[in-house]
Amino acid sequence: MLCALIMAGGKGTRFWPISTEDKPKQFLNLISEKTMIQMTIDRIKPMIPIERIFVCTSQQYVDLLSEQIPDLPIRNIIIEPEGRNTAPCIALSALVINRYYKNANMIVLPSDHLIRDEEEFRKILTTGNKFVDMNPKSIVTLGMKPSRPEIGYGYIKYTDDKQVVDNRKIIKVESFVEKPSLEKAKQYLQESKYLWNGGMFLWNTNEIIDEIKKFEEDTYEALQHIRDISEEKLQEEINNNYNKTRAISVDYAILEKSDNIFVIESEFGWDDIGSWEAIERYREKDTNNNIYIGNIKANNTKNNIIASSSNKVIISDLSDIYLVENDGYIIIGKKENISEVRNYNMS
Ligand code: GDD
Ligand code: MG
Repeated sequence: MLCALIMAGGKGTRFWPISTEDKPKQFLNLISEKTMIQMTIDRIKPMIPIERIFVCTSQQYVDLLSEQIPDLPIRNIIIEPEGRNTAPCIALSALVINRYYKNANMIVLPSDHLIRDEEEFRKILTTGNKFVDMNPKSIVTLGMKPSRPEIGYGYIKYTDDKQVVDNRKIIKVESFVEKPSLEKAKQYLQESKYLWNGGMFLWNTNEIIDEIKKFEEDTYEALQHIRDISEEKLQEEINNNYNKTRAISVDYAILEKSDNIFVIESEFGWDDIGSWEAIERYREKDTNNNIYIGNIKANNTKNNIIASSSNKVIISDLSDIYLVENDGYIIIGKKENISEVRNYNMS
């Protein structure tokens, strides 16, 4: 049985002030008219029915989530009392999914990515699922060919050891390095043995629980009783114990340590929407190369990025600038320096 887990508890602080702690980027329509979590769920639905799609998020986002995904069953919202990064989120979710589907495989997906070729994405996941059925101890990652030295990603070094399923190569991984230094990232780009970690994983729930037990003992101890508790006591059990988990990402906690990792090289037009530059790459522009998100009226402008949540913005005869406005804050600058927006975070 195949289930999906969507991780939707990130704070998305790099997009402040458009993305706030009350409404982070996965709940915003940064790339299209749909929000990023809606895009994520629509992408996986042709493959997995909504009854088997689970979303893990913090208590504070449950209302937003139910509003944006009204057909998501209540039991499929896995509620963390607080965000403690992806390792506890995955541990909790694997244990919860395992209650309903004993020997399930589980696809783990972030809620803030763009994928252009959705059919190819689903085909790769179908192949990955077959591979996990044949090799239940394996942890499958999706790897993308690096195109720049990116220090915000994990890097997967693969071996020559390959298996072929559905005419696709599934390659044994030699090592995994999360968020390397710029120097290392440049070196990995030159060597041809590295792929970017796409942050999407496929594994058997029992296997990932075993890996957590092995590498994250405190988290396992804090949460393991979830398996046996009654449905009525489940949330209370989570609430009482979640703060005993170790706050760390799954990449550092498990992927850098496990010996059972495989990678499928994937080409489906993937990007992590983690910066304004990524929005610039993918959001449709008007005929004058402007990106306007919100209620913007423009006259004689070109090459601008303007995003406003709360106000109406009128702009005239100004080009090559950015303006990001929300929550009582306005940040304006030269468009070429839009990456600096993240440095002004005053939240
Ligand atoms: N429920 C929950 N709780 N979700 C969380 C939490 C949490 O505490 N923290 C993060 N998430 C969600 C985010 O919303 C996002 O969808 C996903 O988990 C990944 O978290 P990020 O914070 O965006 O991770 P990252 O981008 O720095 O790094 C990961 O993704 C890269 C590719 O996009 C790593 O897996 C890298 O290795 C990878 O290259
Ligand atoms: Mg990310």
